[in-house]
Amino acid sequence: MSSAGAAEQRTGRFGPYGGRYVPETLMEPLAELEAAWLEARADAAFQAEFARLLRDYVGRPTALGCAARLSEQLGCRLYLKREDLCHTGAHKINNALGQALLVKRMGKRRVVAETGAGQHGVASATVCALLDLECVVYMGVDDMARQAPNVRRMRLLGAEVRGVDSGSRTLKDAINEAMRDWVTNVRSTHYLLGSALGAHPYPSLVRDFHSVIGREARAQMLAATGALPDVAVACVGGGSNAIGLFSAFLDDPVELVGVEAGGRSAAPGEHASRFSERADAASHRPESSSAAGRGESGSGGERVGVLHGTRTYLLQDEAGNVLPTHSISAGLDYPAVGPEHAFLHDSGRVRYVRASDAETLDAFQRLARCEGILPALESAHAVAWVLREAASLRGRVVLVNLSGRGDKDLAILEEAGL
Ligand SMILES: Cc1ncc(COP(=O)(O)O)c(C=O)c1O
Repeated sequence: MSSAGAAEQRTGRFGPYGGRYVPETLMEPLAELEAAWLEARADAAFQAEFARLLRDYVGRPTALGCAARLSEQLGCRLYLKREDLCHTGAHKINNALGQALLVKRMGKRRVVAETGAGQHGVASATVCALLDLECVVYMGVDDMARQAPNVRRMRLLGAEVRGVDSGSRTLKDAINEAMRDWVTNVRSTHYLLGSALGAHPYPSLVRDFHSVIGREARAQMLAATGALPDVAVACVGGGSNAIGLFSAFLDDPVELVGVEAGGRSAAPGEHASRFSERADAASHRPESSSAAGRGESGSGGERVGVLHGTRTYLLQDEAGNVLPTHSISAGLDYPAVGPEHAFLHDSGRVRYVRASDAETLDAFQRLARCEGILPALESAHAVAWVLREAASLRGRVVLVNLSGRGDKDLAILEEAGL
């Protein structure tokens, strides 16, 4: 069970965050989705089919290995959970597969999805091909340009990719368009949302489908080292790979760190750090009780708002207009964050920090040269935090979720001079 426990299951709320802020037309399909998910969760046949496809099609369990050379250089023991080795190259397929099986169960034939980095779009196109579903993917035109190989992959898999030319022409605008399509075609269509955000039940459902990451990593760490890690780290866009990892460690004495996109600077519009100005300064170790209890009332103040159906931390101006964002990684370039992360932030259970574009590029190079792994730029944010904190991590065991692989980022890396 998650951080907010049984109440979450009934109401879709994580303390003051989450909920279902949608137009009337979407209330019924969300209720239908929630019912299908709760039924499927309790259905041994569904769980067996999901587990079989995760094993035989996705390639789970993914490896967990010690990054030996980097560990030696940093003076800690760094372990990598290799979600980059999943079929299609990122964690996103865990959730895409789970939801596509639900679509079959609900008897729908058409899927719409949004994508930022293109990994969720590719995962959706892939599972739709596998399960014979029609697939339309919305993607901001700026993201289509910077993640062009993934656009080509989606089309080769038989999906229709629709460019979104409004707003900031990135993930937020792609979600707007996918929701518009869903509202219009709600009887035939399922919205295959790609992160742990949006209206209830999506944040809980997406977390559940990704919880396999944390379950595997926890068992693999115990097998490899005889103990749990001291620290577990993941990048946070909407928050799906992070919550998949963290969900297995919430009740353990493991420090949990979520890394947001620090972008070019801390100026408005130059980053996608929903939390981290304050969190960087505070102590958020599990044993710290300084923030205990704040989850119920919420401490986000003017930083809290509603976007895409959920109440959460949101980058906005004084009038409540959503601010533009920037990140070198398309997958972290989003102004809001999943509501469970908002709760975990306020409760102090997870510490949220940022890594800049420049630190991320350094981390990418370091992992490539030391370990022979090209990480996705999203995942490289988590490595960047470890490099920056090396002095305080000396002698500790650190687990990083390597959420995806970097092939999609070659054009960005070339532009950055790498
Ligand atoms: C490889 C990879 N990691 C992380 C993310 C961020 O998403 P989330 O925070 O939902 O894991 C993305 C999003 O596209 C991604 O492609």
